[in-house]
Amino acid sequence: MSNSDARKKPDIRLLFEPKTVAVIGASAQPGKIGYSICRNIKEGGYQGKLYPVNPKGGTIFGEKVFTSVADIPGEIDVASVTVPANLAFEAVKACADKGVKHIQVITSGFAEIGEADLENEMVQYAIDRGCRVLGPNIFGLFSASARFNSTFSAGTIPSGAVGILTQSGALGIAMIGKCALENIGLSAIVSMGNKADIDEADCLEYLIQQDLTKAILLYIEGIKGGDRFLQTLRAATKVKPVVVLKSGRSKRGAMAAASHTGSLAGTDEICDAILRQCGALRAETLQDAFNWCKCLKDAPLPKGERCVIVTNGGGVGVMATDACEKYGVELYDDQKVLAQAFDEATPDFGSTKNPVDITGAAGAKDYDLALAAPAKCPTMDSAIALYCETAVFNADNLVEMVRGTYKTYQAAGKPITYALVGGKTVAQAAEVLKEEQIPVYTEVYDAVSNMGALYTRYRMAQLRDDKIDEARIDLGAIEKTIDAVLADGRSFLLANEGQAVMRAAGVTIPGAKIAKSADECAKAAEAIGFPVVMKVVSRDILHKSDAGGVVLNLKSAGEVREAYERIMNNCRAYKKDAVIDGIEVVEMVKPGVDLIVGARKDGQMGPIIMVGMGGIYVEVMKDVAFRSANLSRGEAQRMLQSIRCYPMLAGARGQKPKDTASVVDHIIKLATIIKRVPRITDIEINPVVVYEQGCKAVDVRILIKK
Ligand code: ACO
Repeated sequence: MSNSDARKKPDIRLLFEPKTVAVIGASAQPGKIGYSICRNIKEGGYQGKLYPVNPKGGTIFGEKVFTSVADIPGEIDVASVTVPANLAFEAVKACADKGVKHIQVITSGFAEIGEADLENEMVQYAIDRGCRVLGPNIFGLFSASARFNSTFSAGTIPSGAVGILTQSGALGIAMIGKCALENIGLSAIVSMGNKADIDEADCLEYLIQQDLTKAILLYIEGIKGGDRFLQTLRAATKVKPVVVLKSGRSKRGAMAAASHTGSLAGTDEICDAILRQCGALRAETLQDAFNWCKCLKDAPLPKGERCVIVTNGGGVGVMATDACEKYGVELYDDQKVLAQAFDEATPDFGSTKNPVDITGAAGAKDYDLALAAPAKCPTMDSAIALYCETAVFNADNLVEMVRGTYKTYQAAGKPITYALVGGKTVAQAAEVLKEEQIPVYTEVYDAVSNMGALYTRYRMAQLRDDKIDEARIDLGAIEKTIDAVLADGRSFLLANEGQAVMRAAGVTIPGAKIAKSADECAKAAEAIGFPVVMKVVSRDILHKSDAGGVVLNLKSAGEVREAYERIMNNCRAYKKDAVIDGIEVVEMVKPGVDLIVGARKDGQMGPIIMVGMGGIYVEVMKDVAFRSANLSRGEAQRMLQSIRCYPMLAGARGQKPKDTASVVDHIIKLATIIKRVPRITDIEINPVVVYEQGCKAVDVRILIKK
């Protein structure tokens, strides 16, 4: 255990709810960051003690300025460092030596510009003395529960129920402005910066248990410490909705993110799948992320999949129907019930089909009547109300209609979202209603997107499965095989070594034997049973087929002997000095459905697992699914069901269903290996041939850390 591990970390709560705060580099000069932070702390209503520090002394905002942090009496929960980069290490040292619990390093000029060594040295100094460090390269932190605003943003930050963790500082400051504009109050906002020590997992731990926070928004570019982050994220989504804006989706975006934060973004589709597995909602745009947080923080979740659209315009009804398909909102379809429920509110020239069109002739009372139906009908679970400006409907009544119907839905415990489309009066009505935190939008797609977010969270709650299944594997045997590979100076396993690992994990592999002569090959083939395949075993020949080192479908001892000579000649011709360890005689596997199952330690996401369509067209078809290796059998089953070729396993075109339970076993076995064997970095079985009963792992590749 290192020195730093041995020290007890200070409670993260003190970062958000400090009793004493020092600002190192506090300035009396307006416009300076050290001035803005002191101003925000004082004017934000912080009730604790502020200690400005500046060698010049004097007073700032009525507080005595200390010339050194060492002179401050008593304990300091948070120190904000706002001196230039060349002075920051000294300031951090002084804080750490004083025993400050949390140091926020506002200063830029570290890992983000290639000064990672300096950053590590500075942060390690603090960690070794029991301090925790937020940043560097941050705009600070706001925490509503302590009315503590240690950011340098202009203006006040409205308090509320959304907690934001942001890796981008500039975007974070922009988000503060946008929150005010959208009337979204914040319970906290934390600038994560370079995440040299404190990361999202630490802050999530606080936000999970903090009562003010009803929804969490994360902006991330790269993930550090994937395993712990994902576990904390999973714990967070259990109790609160978490919306994630993860940029770096495109290859170019990932490169921009990498150079921006000094961290390499992982493959986006892996990230996407794993965020979903953890129960997070991934938003693509800032607007969606904000809207979803605002809606999710107080809307009831639907209790079923039956949503009803009520509209006064056919066009917006069709748009909403398209949007429902896009955002995964299912429309209620029982025509009989719909006709009964909406008969009274719908004129003859309208439609009681879903979307229910109460037509342009509808007034506020017709909306009241129509929207009352889904609120009270036990087979309807939610509603999307669309309003198009018409000459008949007095827009002045719009606000009252929305307020009234929204109240009805709140009382019924059912969600409703509104799209109000029209000119100035309609936009003004929407503004008034938004101020009241009613989920009102001026775009049809926004109203549906928010309903979609509620449904995604509803389904995630239904499917929530925090169990982690593991297989029994013979770890000792696997470690022994790896020791032998390392002793031989390799970072990859030969075929027989890979098979040994598979046997230790209880994976069925084809019968195989390595032989060193034509006679030995013939004997091995007779023991395995014909037909057999023969493959060269050589560390110098990685692409066996290219070297003519593979011969298939050998049906007799004579054919085996002849194939032995052919392989030896081909391989010698391919690479004269290749060391040939022998020839592997393998059972010729019967055809089934070819899958690929793989596992890998991902730099960002931790141990991950993959399943997909196997064979030689893996790269072409790209029909694969990913998950974190911390998964249950149920999740492994869902992962398998999500690949496009799943119908081939389920029994397409009159075929008998294949043994998917056995594939799930293989997924769990590989997940266990990748988690439990630290030295294995990559495993891939391609193909795993799946039969009506059981599977066979035909080709195994394993890489290890040297
Ligand atoms: N202890 C305490 N105070 C000191 C010390 C010391 N050892 N040495 C100097 N100071 C004082 C200075 O005298 C000065 O006070 P003064 O105004 O009374 O003279 C104060 O500390 C600040 O020092 P300056 O040299 O004036 O530094 P300046 O304020 O110009 O810059 C800063 C410091 C803001 C930290 C800058 O180096 C920096 O990193 N800026 C970028 C910050 C940033 O953007 N962070 C990321 C946010 S996210 C985003 O993108 C928005």
